[in-house]
Amino acid sequence: MDVEEPLSRRFAAPGTVMVRPLLLKPQWMNGLSERLLVSHYENNYGGALRRLNAIRARLADFDGAHTPTFTINGLKREELMAANYVILHEIYFDSLGGDGDTPPTELAEPPAGLAQALERDFGGAAAWRAEFTGMAKALAGGSGWVILAWSERLGRLVNQWAADHAHALAGATPILALDMYEHAYHLDFGAKAAAYVDRVMTNLNWERIGARYRLAIGDRTGDDGLYLPFGAPFEEEARISAEELKAALESDAERRPILLDLCLPRDLPRRRDMLAGASMHAPAALPVWIEGLPRDRPIAVYCICGFQVSGTAVTELRRRGYHARALVGGITAWHAIGGATVPLDTSTYEEAP
Ligand SMILES: [Fe+2]
Repeated sequence: MDVEEPLSRRFAAPGTVMVRPLLLKPQWMNGLSERLLVSHYENNYGGALRRLNAIRARLADFDGAHTPTFTINGLKREELMAANYVILHEIYFDSLGGDGDTPPTELAEPPAGLAQALERDFGGAAAWRAEFTGMAKALAGGSGWVILAWSERLGRLVNQWAADHAHALAGATPILALDMYEHAYHLDFGAKAAAYVDRVMTNLNWERIGARYRLAIGDRTGDDGLYLPFGAPFEEEARISAEELKAALESDAERRPILLDLCLPRDLPRRRDMLAGASMHAPAALPVWIEGLPRDRPIAVYCICGFQVSGTAVTELRRRGYHARALVGGITAWHAIGGATVPLDTSTYEEAP
């Protein structure tokens, strides 16, 4: 087959909302466990994303003349709830994590532009933080969101209370969202919601929050790379989305990509499953396993979250002329879209030299 031919671009129904990858490194957060974060991302965020797409598919078949009003009301209410659920969780997860490969360590200060806005609208970052965390702690034992949003109409940043996903300040743009649903903290903190709030504040990625603020006020300054997983290939043709991979794997055998599951030895204990048909390899053994790869087939490479493990390998494979692409968000994003997996098979994994 023609190796220049891309994998199927018709990978999702029109209007499908595609998964966003985790930008934080879940195994390296400051007092928030990988188990908590990945469960939250895959089950809660992923579940809402799948629900949203199912609702939108149902609405695509909407028949205004024959659909009962209670069905219309129900579907549109659920669509709004699921859409806000998805969007707020993406802002929440995007706002957490260290800088590149560096884990978050402590309470950090906002970048200059956002710090000046917090000074103008709250009297300073400390005063803003006191109100924001106070509101969050006041939701303990209940549920909801606390959102820092930019309101063009009010001409200021506001801390917005939300008792559920459907509450939003009209016309405002969320900059930072703090999830106060019990699923966001119970695995690590039990009922101690206040401890969770304090811990989240020491895990904020102010670079991305600041970029979101600049975007909200119309000051676009080329921050696109900030929203790409650290270490993922920068060129778009070197990446494949979970949705596109799923469609490619469901297509005829000729178009199915070769699947490579790459995992560092230290990360093997974090793994439980893999994509069916994938072969698992050690990144350091690339000179060995590359020998068995065909040059005339598309290759999809994935790791746990789609950071530099798959990114580095794909860059090297492409340099050597292989038609390789890295799965955006790794197997974690694959889980979030409900992609099927099989139990982990390490029989092809190379022993450490
Ligand atoms: Fe949540």
